[in-house]
Amino acid sequence: MDDITATAVGTPNIALVKYWGRRDAVLNLPMNSSFSLTLDESLRTTTSVMFSDSLAEDSLYVDGEIQNLNDPKNEKSAFAGKVIGILRSMSGVESKALVVSTNTFPKSAGFASSASGGAALAMAASEALGLKLDRRLLSIIARQISGSACRSVCGGFVVWKAGEKGDGTDSYAESIAPASHWPDVIDVIATISSAKKKISSSEGHTLTPKTSELYRARPGIAEEHVKRIIEAVRQKDFGTVAEITMKDSNSMHAVMLDSFPPITYLNDISRAVIYAIHELNNAEGTPIAAYTFDAGPNAHVITLKQHKNKVVSALRDIAGDGVVVAGLGEGPRLLSEKESLIKDGVPT
Ligand code: DP6
Repeated sequence: MDDITATAVGTPNIALVKYWGRRDAVLNLPMNSSFSLTLDESLRTTTSVMFSDSLAEDSLYVDGEIQNLNDPKNEKSAFAGKVIGILRSMSGVESKALVVSTNTFPKSAGFASSASGGAALAMAASEALGLKLDRRLLSIIARQISGSACRSVCGGFVVWKAGEKGDGTDSYAESIAPASHWPDVIDVIATISSAKKKISSSEGHTLTPKTSELYRARPGIAEEHVKRIIEAVRQKDFGTVAEITMKDSNSMHAVMLDSFPPITYLNDISRAVIYAIHELNNAEGTPIAAYTFDAGPNAHVITLKQHKNKVVSALRDIAGDGVVVAGLGEGPRLLSEKESLIKDGVPT
């Protein structure tokens, strides 16, 4: 078989209604639906995949470093290996794969690249194998690298439906509106710490449902938030989007704290951002900004372009210079052969 190569670029997403807690750890099936914004290419992962009979084994390079695909401690690489395996068996191609991936995230940004990387890998590998997969199938495949990666497969405003089936075929992401529906929406990101988290999200997804009493209420609250935020996005009702976003982040961090032992990701600077955004909204007399935090202390503040300067300056006062602004994007896309990270069968 001739060597076959493809390259795709993927971007992160920020959840406004959060996924925390899974009902199946192998397939990454969530307890509740979630809702996110796919960001533009201000932050991106580029991934090239080559299948070739000349390769003796699968290998993965991330930002120039080789990763061990069979190391159970390196969960994301193990998942990347699993996804390559699934796509290989769907296509009937048996050749081994070389995967080369680079991130353009600012070094200090403390971002996980698993969502953008998962989306780029699923798209590049399925293209190289000649599989014509629609976004739904791609998101089901990306979900198995990282739950939140399934949302980065779609552009703009995205819902990940929890689904009910045990095999995960009804747990996928879809776009409810493209980025162009409301291009004024931006994410102002303040880096508060890039230190590695003590408890991975993977551990937390199991620990919290098992040990938190408050968690019993969480899936119902999140489903209600998803329903309401979809309607608010359709109406471009920023006040409602902002309120749900802040409440949902607080709700997720509350059940994290209620886990046993407790999980805490926010620090004093994160809390200073929370108070500052409430003060800013009070001073404006209407919500113009909404904070949300993932499994770490870094703040994402969702706002509209016309309020960008106010929000950036409020965040700089608290968090210093590490502030990045991202708009909304349309999800992963294929790149040309010229842009491949693999030349003559080796990483460039
Ligand atoms: C807090 O997608 O990182 O960011 O499935 O273990 O890769 P894995 O988990 P991951 O969980 C992220 C949870 C979150 C909220 C969210 O993005 O919805």
